[in-house]
Amino acid sequence: MNEQQRKELNQIKENPTDRKSAQDKPLKEKTSADFAKYFETTYQPPSLKNAKKRGKEDVNVHYDFDIPEDIARIGEGKKFLIRTYGCQMNEHDTEIMAGILTDIGYESTSDTNEADIILLNTCAIRENAENKVFGEIGHLKPLKQEKPDLIIGVCGCMSQEESVVNRILQKHPFIDLIFGTHNIHRLPQLVKEAMFSKEMVVEVWSKEGDIVENLPRQRKGSIKAWVNIMYGCDKFCTYCIVPYTRGKERSRLPQDIIQEVRQLAAQGYKEITLLGQNVNAYGKDLDMEYGLGDLMDEIRKIDIPRVRFTTSHPRDFDDRLIEVLAKGGNLLDHIHLPVQSGSSEVLKIMARKYTRERYLELVHKIREAMPNATLTTDIIVGFPNETEEQFQETLSLVEEVGFEGAYTFIYSPREGTPAAKMKDNVPMEVKKERLQRLNALVNHQAAETMKKYEGEMVDVLVEGESKKNPDVLAGYTHRNKLVNFRAPKSLIGEIVQVKVTKAKTWSLDGELVQTAEVKS
Ligand code: SAH
Ligand code: SF4
Ligand code: F3S
Repeated sequence: MNEQQRKELNQIKENPTDRKSAQDKPLKEKTSADFAKYFETTYQPPSLKNAKKRGKEDVNVHYDFDIPEDIARIGEGKKFLIRTYGCQMNEHDTEIMAGILTDIGYESTSDTNEADIILLNTCAIRENAENKVFGEIGHLKPLKQEKPDLIIGVCGCMSQEESVVNRILQKHPFIDLIFGTHNIHRLPQLVKEAMFSKEMVVEVWSKEGDIVENLPRQRKGSIKAWVNIMYGCDKFCTYCIVPYTRGKERSRLPQDIIQEVRQLAAQGYKEITLLGQNVNAYGKDLDMEYGLGDLMDEIRKIDIPRVRFTTSHPRDFDDRLIEVLAKGGNLLDHIHLPVQSGSSEVLKIMARKYTRERYLELVHKIREAMPNATLTTDIIVGFPNETEEQFQETLSLVEEVGFEGAYTFIYSPREGTPAAKMKDNVPMEVKKERLQRLNALVNHQAAETMKKYEGEMVDVLVEGESKKNPDVLAGYTHRNKLVNFRAPKSLIGEIVQVKVTKAKTWSLDGELVQTAEVKS
């Protein structure tokens, strides 16, 4: 560890997360013509600082979501469009918002010119994610000028950031509505306010968030479905904005999750993905000695052919979960296990709370119990002051684990996080060059793994036409490999056997060998 890194680490140690008091800050206000007065008196921005001070206050579970009479048909004859940025959590939130908008009478459209309401469901994870959204806001301005009744809303993780809300208020006043990740259930009321108010409607709660159970959903497909098992994140990795934008870790009750999965099975869904920022922390906040392993052991028995989960945090990955996953069946043997760095020193400053050795031990345990498991990961290069040697440790770890795929990122400073305050001596060109070297290695490993499939039989869940060629069908194997093959469209939604004829870096070509559905 170099001098600068040691300094940063001491600073983190001196300012540990203070979780004593949680602050609920309902922030239901409109901007007024008198901007200045508004800022001074009533406006309370979403506070990143308060997010970090959170405590163990109760999370309330609500089963009473209801749309008031006067709003029930407010969208009749109108159309909505939601643009989604970011992770699966956001994609699923979009399905919920689409469900709510449909319930109040709106129809969906993919044409911006046809839409009466456009929502941007945003992501704050890296600067370029935010830039994309600000670019889109700019593009929408002429449309709003042309159609003053159009409602444009910004929601998702960016709206939880004070600086973003302020920037929109000041530089993009044509936006009609801003609401946060904890305010989705209030969408009917917010749409009504935005319709009848001449001023921007802003509702962002810094509150940690309750759980609202009975929200409507308009799912994107009828084959695969997302199921939230928990919300938020308490890990506070020093580079990451998510714990501030998504609130504290809150687990849904097992019975509510199991009921949702049973319903999906009854509706004919073939695959579910259990969702959370750190699914391995599932149950820790429930005080009932019940974890992800226990939940998976129950879901395993439900008649749904495929069950995936994302994302795992190495720190909370326990033996009970490995034991349950090893039972196989509908629990697929693909584990996405973000490592972030192969250097224990960098991991320490990232506050990941595991070392390279601990990570490798975990991989070893998983491989022993599940010899066929595919492992994929997330990696950040160019963390502040990362040395060439430390980066080399990441490369060697990628090789040692044999990752079959990785999402790789250049570190992006996020305002309000501890890492953003660190001095950084790594020039951008060096970061870019490291990313290229890492990607070359990851691609090489992915291609090598794919080659092993040539001549093999695989079970494929047929999802639809290939994006590149409508005459070809596409789907994924157990181990999450994309397979393209020619077959009748009637097989969409079925699990079929395919013989792999050719391996590419990120996909396999194959021939259909059997049409009867197989179990797993
Ligand atoms: N909860 C998941 C990850 C959520 S964010 C986990 O802990 O694994 C998805 C990925 O984005 C992270 O794994 C990390 O690799 C990357 N990421 C997060 N913050 C970042 C930042 N500030 N700069 C670059 N990449 C970042
Ligand atoms: Fe971010 Fe870390 Fe939480 Fe993942 S575990 S969401 S990287 S703080
Ligand atoms: Fe982005 Fe928020 Fe997901 S920051 S990655 S959309 S949790």
